[in-house]
Amino acid sequence: PEVVSQRRLPSRQRFFGDLSQCLFDFVIQLLPTESEVQVKEDVRRLLERLIRTIEPSSRLLSFGSTANGFSLRNSDMDLCCLIDSDERLSASDLVTMLGDLLERETKFHVKPLPHARIPIVKLSLDPSPGLPLGIACDIGFENRLALENTRLLMCYAMIDPTRVRTLVLFLKVWSKRRKINSPYKGTLSSYGYVLLVIYFLVHVKNPPVLPNLQQMPPLRPISKEDTHVAGYNTWFFDDVELLRTRWHSENNDSVAELLVDFFRYFARDFSYNTGVASIRAGFLKKASKGWQNDLSSRFHDSRERNRLCIEDPFELDFNVGRCVSKDGIYTIRGEFMRASRILANRPERAVIALAELCA
Ligand code: CTP
Ligand code: MG
Repeated sequence: PEVVSQRRLPSRQRFFGDLSQCLFDFVIQLLPTESEVQVKEDVRRLLERLIRTIEPSSRLLSFGSTANGFSLRNSDMDLCCLIDSDERLSASDLVTMLGDLLERETKFHVKPLPHARIPIVKLSLDPSPGLPLGIACDIGFENRLALENTRLLMCYAMIDPTRVRTLVLFLKVWSKRRKINSPYKGTLSSYGYVLLVIYFLVHVKNPPVLPNLQQMPPLRPISKEDTHVAGYNTWFFDDVELLRTRWHSENNDSVAELLVDFFRYFARDFSYNTGVASIRAGFLKKASKGWQNDLSSRFHDSRERNRLCIEDPFELDFNVGRCVSKDGIYTIRGEFMRASRILANRPERAVIALAELCA
């Protein structure tokens, strides 16, 4: 009976149903295993114990994909060290000392970068039976904004786990396979792609799939000290349990429909030349933020930086897409068009469409 009813559906609906199922199946097999999650937590604890021999009041927290619900198998670990003491060492001294200590006490390959813009220690671990692909990990210091934006993304993931997580995870894999996920080579970071998805679900889809957590009225009055981190307002509505009882999306699109629309929007409709994608405020004009890429400008450098504009949710003067080069934006947009074309044809078998998308 299942098969018969499937066949009676109009082909459009059948295609989206099949594609949604394929997307779930595809993403599930790419999630980290339980043992990987456990090993990573063990590593975090071990590193925290070691750091405390230098700074007893320090805590080591996860951020990025290991903490926001958008982790793929074998993704790297982003760790942030917080020190609850007024007389602490400088970040670069800590990086140097921690580098020496980890070199002596652990099996990690250690690379301290004390003089980087943001000083970090880079660690990696060779493959072993429990960790067939090894581990890569960066430890930074006092990056409280990254902890807050991680929490924001996690809350968005929790509001509608199935649709949000499937879309984000698929786009992360797709962007890696299509080689447009390298900020160092002029394309966009995973963080940038996640922000584009949330922007799309909050501000482009109508009715919206997600509420705007930064613009919801707070439950009780909040003071400036409670909401500001490093001078930026990081407040957002974070009581997801309560939200689930109060807010329901009127949008019932399937994951596949959302994916098709996402690709179409960023292939065709988003105005790259004049627009800024902001999850806090929706579509903004580059001019209103002073982020123009005026071609007559003499300031070659700033122009280069603003080809793709994505406002950071808290650090409003930071363009998350600033690494994207002229070639990079051309390639990324070309990839959105390619994906859109593949899906628009509604190939007979969704699983083949997926394979082709990520080929
Ligand atoms: N981050 C940031 N500003 C950026 C880039 C990253 O604050 N311009 C922080 C964010 O907290 C983000 C984290 O660094 O969640 C990790 O970024 P990234 O590695 O791009 O995302 P992941 O989700 O960890 O993706 P991947 O699995 O590809 O590592
Ligand atoms: Mg990461």
